[in-house]
Amino acid sequence: MSAVTYLSCRDLERYLGEDESRVHALRGVSLEIELGTVHAVVGPSGCGKSTLLYLLGLLDQPDGGSVTLGSEALSHLPDHELARRRNESIGFIFQFHFLMEDFSAQENVMIPMRRLGRLSLEEMEERAADLLNAVDLGDKLQRPSRHLSGGEQQRVAIARALANDPRVILADEPTGNLDTRNSQRAFELLQRLVQEGNKALFLVTHNQLIANVCDWIHEMQDGRIVATHSRSGSRPSFQ
Ligand SMILES: Nc1ncnc2c1ncn2[C@@H]1O[C@H](COP(=O)(O)OP(=O)(O)O)[C@@H](O)[C@H]1O
Ligand SMILES: [Mg+2]
Repeated sequence: MSAVTYLSCRDLERYLGEDESRVHALRGVSLEIELGTVHAVVGPSGCGKSTLLYLLGLLDQPDGGSVTLGSEALSHLPDHELARRRNESIGFIFQFHFLMEDFSAQENVMIPMRRLGRLSLEEMEERAADLLNAVDLGDKLQRPSRHLSGGEQQRVAIARALANDPRVILADEPTGNLDTRNSQRAFELLQRLVQEGNKALFLVTHNQLIANVCDWIHEMQDGRIVATHSRSGSRPSFQ
């Protein structure tokens, strides 16, 4: 089976800040993300990793170059069209997971479904429960997220990212605030969900162990991808 490129960007340029603090954050970044693959982006703080992730996730617009989702170039779409594609096709996980802390785990996972507005309340509740079961939190559906551990909260964030069954998941240092065991567990879970669902995962990480088991590693420096390595061979694993 030949791999299908789902999300790609070409010659992305992005400037951030004003006047003398203006930064050339991305300098001609191109890459392709195929379904069924896991990509890691590594590089020093400030090299442009988050900026790239925001552009790929349609949360920000480039000053030059283009992002293509499916087979559609998105550069000139109005905000509401970008928002619709984002809600339908992309799941996000951030280092600080931004859960609503007074909401239950189940309610947090329902938030993206409410935004898309396609399911009834019962359907949303059932889907959220299924997703939380899949991340091993089926017994904590009703627990307010502030009463969950850090690892559990990040698993809620993973379930939330999958709420609308996106084809691609973008994760910005998703395990950055977890200890080693919980980091590996969260990553392995993501990796499994991506493989089972033929999704793509694009992950910013400082964790070399995690980067080393991704299919592709992109090294960034000063707003550019300076090297891309593929990891061929057997299925990625920590063993
Ligand atoms: N809102 C902003 N205003 C001005 N400069 C910014 C802004 N956001 C990021 N930057 C700058 O852009 C560069 C890239 O930032 P970022 O993409 O967050 O890097 P990374 O995620 O690799 O640490 C850095 O020099 C950062 O200081
Ligand atoms: Mg960052």
